[in-house]
Amino acid sequence: MSLSQIARSIKASPTLALNEKAAILREKGDPVIHLGGGEPKSRAPMDALLAAVNSLNTGEIRYAPADGTPELKKAIIRYTEEFYHKKVNPENVIASGGAKQAIMVAMQAILNPQEEIIYPAPYWVSYPDMAKLCGAIGVAALPEDGTFYPRLRDIEMRVGSYTKAVIINSPNNPSGAMYSEEFIADIVDFCERKGIYLIMDDIYHRLIFDGKKPFSAYDYTKKSVEESKLIIVNGVSKQYAMTGFRIGWAVGNKKVIEAMANIQGHQTSGPSVLLQKAAAGAINGIQSSVESLRVTLENNRNVLIEQLRSFTGVKVSVPDGTFYCFADFSAYDKDSQKLSKLLIDKVMVLTVPGKEFGLDGFLRISYCGTIKDITEGVERMKWALDPNSPNELYIGDRKLVRDWS
Ligand SMILES: Cc1ncc(COP(=O)(O)O)c(C=O)c1O
Repeated sequence: MSLSQIARSIKASPTLALNEKAAILREKGDPVIHLGGGEPKSRAPMDALLAAVNSLNTGEIRYAPADGTPELKKAIIRYTEEFYHKKVNPENVIASGGAKQAIMVAMQAILNPQEEIIYPAPYWVSYPDMAKLCGAIGVAALPEDGTFYPRLRDIEMRVGSYTKAVIINSPNNPSGAMYSEEFIADIVDFCERKGIYLIMDDIYHRLIFDGKKPFSAYDYTKKSVEESKLIIVNGVSKQYAMTGFRIGWAVGNKKVIEAMANIQGHQTSGPSVLLQKAAAGAINGIQSSVESLRVTLENNRNVLIEQLRSFTGVKVSVPDGTFYCFADFSAYDKDSQKLSKLLIDKVMVLTVPGKEFGLDGFLRISYCGTIKDITEGVERMKWALDPNSPNELYIGDRKLVRDWS
């Protein structure tokens, strides 16, 4: 069987594969603790559900414009005014099948084969493969100072004649680092001076802690929306706990949005109308669920950090937002895939190997589950990794015996 070169160069999403693995183990009756997940456990907002149910009850769910329904676009325009302090028009907005599709069609709209898109490392697992899907090249920029906070020079030193775009995800998956306002201002200015696109992946922008407030990249541009090469991506998945609804969006200049809409039109004809109803319901509705999720996550983060600080050999930096912590386990094993596998096989705790995010020796640990999952998960990890642990561990009535060193 001959597959395309692109197909052969793409690997399955490691985070989606992990979800499947957790489901399979659970079905077998194994007491799995999934600390590798990427979705809040709260319910979708009532306003989202009611909007979708009302629409469904009409029995008339039809095609709609490929770039999104006028109703959802209106809601996104209002959202952009509130959070980005920018007035945009419907032609500046596209609704997509998740922020993932918005980023994908943005890349397809701007990247030629062999051109480069730069992103700070650690980075979201999908960026390198999305670049490959365009025949383009993803360039990871690991901060030189060993932190999770890039400085302009980390990006600047990788820009060359093939560089077409930079993508910034802050707060960041997997590190939880929220980049400084100064860095965002610098990167906007830098990309403008160089004439390159800047995609802001803001999917976690309201899930931030310690009194921090989201920044708007539009606050730092000297250009009008139509002149600017800024593309802002956001969505309902994380902030409204609506991952399965698959609605995200992008805001940018008319030309780039039109190109994205043309591509999306041929791919999917646009996201489901029913789910766009739900997304508009969430954006226009009561916002208390976002704050309540944010508070829960901040509390979960505090519990996880306390647990990890008492974990001998593990180094942690405190996440500013998201629901991920990226901890350095290299004292136990520099090969994060091996380490993550050991934790699944021996104590049924799922984490994501740092290698998938461009930094080996680290594990991504999610704190979007329950406090019980976090504490018990870390306890099991300690038992598995600490050579001085007692020889046996009980999980319910199941006895685990250490047969590894
Ligand atoms: C950094 C980042 N960007 C984009 C997405 C995609 O979000 P969506 O579910 O809206 O496609 C994710 C999901 O995990 C993410 O972590």
